[in-house]
Amino acid sequence: MPDTLTVTDNRTGKTYTLALHDGNIRAIDLRQIQTNPDDFGVMSYDPAYTNTAACRSSITYIDGDKGILRYRGYPIEQLAEKCTFPEVAYLILNGELPTPDQAQDWNEHLMRRTMLHENVKKFMEGFHYDAHPMGMFISTMAALSTFYNEAKKVLDPEVRKLEVLRAISKVPTIAAYTYRHSMGLPYVYPDNSLTYTENFMNMLWKMTEPVYKPNPAIARALDILFILHADHEQNCSTSAMRGVGSSQADPFVATAAAAAALYGPLHGGANEQVLRMLDEIGSKDKVPAYVAAVKNNKGKLMGFGHRIYKNYDPRARILKWAAERVFEVTGRNPKLDIALELERIALEDDYFVQRKLYPNVDFYSGIIYQALGFRPEMFTVLFAIPRTVGWLAQWEEMITDPEQKIARPRQVYTGKALRDVPARP
Ligand code: ACO
Repeated sequence: MPDTLTVTDNRTGKTYTLALHDGNIRAIDLRQIQTNPDDFGVMSYDPAYTNTAACRSSITYIDGDKGILRYRGYPIEQLAEKCTFPEVAYLILNGELPTPDQAQDWNEHLMRRTMLHENVKKFMEGFHYDAHPMGMFISTMAALSTFYNEAKKVLDPEVRKLEVLRAISKVPTIAAYTYRHSMGLPYVYPDNSLTYTENFMNMLWKMTEPVYKPNPAIARALDILFILHADHEQNCSTSAMRGVGSSQADPFVATAAAAAALYGPLHGGANEQVLRMLDEIGSKDKVPAYVAAVKNNKGKLMGFGHRIYKNYDPRARILKWAAERVFEVTGRNPKLDIALELERIALEDDYFVQRKLYPNVDFYSGIIYQALGFRPEMFTVLFAIPRTVGWLAQWEEMITDPEQKIARPRQVYTGKALRDVPARP
C-alpha cells in the first residue's frame, strides 16, 4: 500500500500525489496546488492548531481517547508510583531514567544551584505587597536572563546544559520567594541537605525552628504532583516556549513566555478558577443548580474538558487518590465533597457525556494545594515549577532539530484590498 494521498483539485481537474510521513501530509506540499502559476497555492487553515503537528517529538505520548499519558514511553501511573520528581526530570531531559549513580550526581548538581543571586532577591523585594505570585514568577524568570548573559549562546550545547540545570534548580526558590513575599515573610535560603521537594517545603514553610523537618507524606504528595505536571507535549505554554525559543531567544526569557501562557485561566490558571467555582457553589446540595446553569451558558465548569483528552485525564485519577493521602495528614478539605458530587453529576449528564468532558488535572490539584495551605494565587506557580522541566526539554529538542526554523505561521488575509490614502485636510 503506497504511503500517499491523491488529491484532485476540482477547480482545475488536476490530480496531485502527496507523500504521507508517519501518516501525515506536509502542509508545504499543498502549495503546489495552484489554479495558475501566479496563484500562491493552497495552505491549510487551522486556527488554534487543532489538527496541526508543528514538530516531531520523542518526549511525551498522549492518547486522548484512551486517557493515556507516557513520558519517554513510561506510563505516568508507574512513574508516579515508583520514581521521584528529579528522576522523572532526568528522564524527560535525557530520554532514560538515571542509574543510581547518575541520580545522585544529578541531585547534587541540581541542589548546588538552588541559591538566587542576592540582586534577584532584591529585585523581588520591589514587587508590590499584593502582586500576583505568577506575575512575580514570570518577571523573575525573565530577569534571570540579565544575570546569566552567556545564556544567549543557545547554539552551544554546554551552555544550554548549564542554563537548563540552573533554571530547574532555581524555580522552586523563585516560587517559594513569591509565596513568602505575598505573605510578608522573610525569604528562607535553600537547604541542600534536603531533597528537591523537601527543600521547596523548607523555603515555603520554615519559621523560627533551627532546622525544618518536612512531613514525608506531604513531601511525597508534592513530588507526585510535580511528576504529573512535568510535561504534556504541545500544549499552549509549551508551544509558546518553542515559538519564542525558535527565534533563538535565551531559555530564561523563553521560559518566562511559556509561564505567561500557563498563567491564563484556560490553561494552568484553571485550578485557581476551580477553587473559586467550588467556593461559589458553596455546598453539595447546590451542585445540580450550578451544573444546570453551566448548561445554560452561564460559563464553563472549570477543571472539566480538555483539548486532547476525550476520556478521564489519567493525571486527575492519580490526584484523586493523592488527595485522600494528603487529607490523612491535613484533615479533609470540605471542597472535596463538592468536587466529588460535581464529578458524579457531570459524568451522568448528557451534556458532558456527549461532549466527552471529564475532569482534567486541574480539577483535583487545587483542592490538594489548598489543603496544604496555599492560597489559589499560588496554584499556577506550583504548576510552573515542574513544567519548567518539560518546557526546557522541548526547547532543547527544538533547538537541536535540523528541521526547525523560526516559527512563522501564515494567515488568510481578510482585510481591505489595495486602496489609496485620500487627500488629507
Ligand atoms: N464546561 C462546560 N462546557 C464545556 C467545557 C466546560 N469546562 N469545556 C468545553 N465545553 C463545551 C463547549 O462549550 C463546547 O460546547 P458546544 O459544542 O456546544 O459549543 C464543547 O464543550 C467543546 O468545547 P471546546 O471549547 O471546543 O473545547 P476546546 O478543546 O477548545 O477547549 C478547554 C478545551 C479550553 C480545556 C475547555 O474544555 C475549557 O475551557 N475547560 C475549562 C478550563 C480548564 O479546566 N482548563 C484546564 C485545561 S487542562 C490544562 O491546561 C492543564
